Amino acid sequence: MSDTNAVVSKDLLPLALDARSHAHAPYSGFHVGAALRAADGSLFSGCNVENASYGLTLCAERNAVVTAVAAGHTSFTDVVIVADGDATPYPCGACRQVLAEFGGDDMRVHVLRGDTGEIETLSLGELLPRAFRLKTGNAEVSGKQ
Ligand code: THU
Repeated sequence: MSDTNAVVSKDLLPLALDARSHAHAPYSGFHVGAALRAADGSLFSGCNVENASYGLTLCAERNAVVTAVAAGHTSFTDVVIVADGDATPYPCGACRQVLAEFGGDDMRVHVLRGDTGEIETLSLGELLPRAFRLKTGNAEVSGKQ
């Protein structure tokens, strides 16, 4: 196991697993937890929250991001994502784009593989090459312009 994965296993993984236990997923039955490390080391987590009006469902990763942003953090180095069963929860396209708002191509995305129980680490740049970005002219708006 790499050093990074050893660290992630100790801090972000337990947070993501705890968040997953709070998932509200009565429709899909698919429980997801995510945990983020901000640039200053602060940690945040989120779970998926489904709705009877299916399209209003919120993904775990985006919930973690909005929780962190509401606490004043806009730059992230790592995210860990865990789900149920033998699924490996690579983030959906919408979550990749939202992560790209606050993380560069080098942001580490760790997924707990459902088949092996190992952590697989990818870069955000691998998952979302040539991310859509707008220049705001105000670097304070986002960690990554
Ligand atoms: N889901 C996430 O939480 N993150 C993703 O990246 C993909 C999907 C959730 C949404 C929904 O509650 C359930 O997984 C099934 O799509």
